[in-house]
Order: sequence, then C-alpha cells, then structure tokens
Amino acid sequence: MPRQAVIIHTPEEIARIRRAAELTSLVRSQVAAAVRPGMTTFDLDQLAGEFIAATGGKSAFLGYCGYPANICISVNDEVVHGIGSPQKVIGEHDIVSVDVGVAIDGGVGDCATTVCLGTPTPDIKRLLEGTERALDAGIAAARRGNHICDISRAVQEVAHRYHLGVVRELVGHGCGVKMHEPPEVPNFVGWGKGPLLEPGMVICIEPMLNLGTAAVKTDHHDHWTVRTVDGKYSAHFENMVLITENEPEILTWQKTM
Ligand code: MF3
Ligand code: CO
Repeated sequence: MPRQAVIIHTPEEIARIRRAAELTSLVRSQVAAAVRPGMTTFDLDQLAGEFIAATGGKSAFLGYCGYPANICISVNDEVVHGIGSPQKVIGEHDIVSVDVGVAIDGGVGDCATTVCLGTPTPDIKRLLEGTERALDAGIAAARRGNHICDISRAVQEVAHRYHLGVVRELVGHGCGVKMHEPPEVPNFVGWGKGPLLEPGMVICIEPMLNLGTAAVKTDHHDHWTVRTVDGKYSAHFENMVLITENEPEILTWQKTM
C-alpha cells in the first residue's frame, strides 16, 4: 500500500485556519446553547445558518457532495450527518449532536459536540463522558513523532474502557484549507501505523461511539443520515488539532477576549 500523504500547512495558512476554527467553535457553542425540546431540527439548522452568516463565513457543509443543510444535527440513534427537518421535533430527553463547519478567507473549521437535554440516564452519562474522554485522549496523543495509529489507539482504549462500540465506517481527517484533507484518522487500530505526525499538520479527531454495537447504516431515503443498526444511542465529539513542536494545540477552542 502506498504511504498516505499528509499536508503540512504554512504559517500563513495556519493563521487563516486558526481564525476559521475559532469561529467554528463559536458557532458550535451558540448552536449547542440554542437546542431546546419542542423545536424542530430544521429550526435549529436555520438558526445555525444565521450564526454562521454572522461570522462573515459560509457553511462548509452546505453543497458539499450535495449536502443540503447548514450543519449536521443527529439525534439519539443517529450517529452523524442528520439533516434538519421541519417534521423532526426535538424531545425532552433527547441527545443531540451538532456538527458545524465554517469556511472563511481561505480557512475551514470543522467541529462537533453532543448535548443532552434533561437528566441523563447512567447509560447516556457513560456514552457522553466516554466519547468526550476518548476525544481528549486522542488529542493528547497528537504529538510530533507519534503516528496516526497512536491517536487511534488512545481513542479506542477509552471507548473499550467505557464499553462503547466504535464506528468504523467514518473516520477523522486532515482539515484546514479544504474540509477533508489527508490523512484519515480512524478511531480504531487497523493494519498499519499510518503517517508520522509532523508540526504544521492539522487534523480533526472525531470519535463516534455507540451504546450498543459498532454497526451503522445509511438512510435509504436521504442517503446521508447514519444510524446505529441496533437503534441504541450514539455520540460524536470533534475538535481540530494543530500538531506543533510541543503540545498539541486545539484550534476549535474559543479564546476569551
Ligand atoms: N464533520 C463532518 C466530517 O468531518 C462533516 C461532513 S458533513 C457533510 O465529515 F455534509 F459536509 F459532508
Ligand atoms: Co470532521
């Protein structure tokens, strides 16, 4: 198998990527804070469109491979790529994943979080805590000299410790000038080590973990929404990380100014 390419961004690119990522994380928090039971996922998507427009940027998802919405909104057993719908009302005990991408001035940001409405059951608590900790463990492994597989292993270990199913069909990715850049960042350890991590690489680490089995299927009607096969809940957290000489830098992180 040929070695997977990586993209090392220039300092000028990183400045643009940093700004896009920061605005994306701002929109992510605005959308997450706006989720209310009783609203439709279409309303939430429209609101997200307004938050994105207020940054001066554009949705990085709308029109991407024909994707028809501003953001991805995935509820309960939906894993990722849920499309806001006027027929879908958010319930009092739902968990809602919001995945946001903003393109602005030559940079692209991409990040996600999952919010729980109402008091979480012990299982939902385990799902959300496990998925967020898996992301954090992956980020901690995103250091120069490590390989992609070290991130994958860190994510997988936490997922196993929390007895969560690891989705294999979808993976993290390089990001920055385009939304999807090489390399792939799987949430499980495969055959090889994957590329070496070098300063200037920007990657999205995004565990998608299930309360039940890892198996997922794509909706036959909209061809986007990915759901668990067993109908159990799934969570998704995503951050964009810059590989540096030293500590990994989370780019989808709002600085308080
Ligand atoms: N965060 C998702 C990803 O990393 C967003 C893609 S949704 C799409 O792939 F609709 F734009 F494809
Ligand atoms: Co992504």
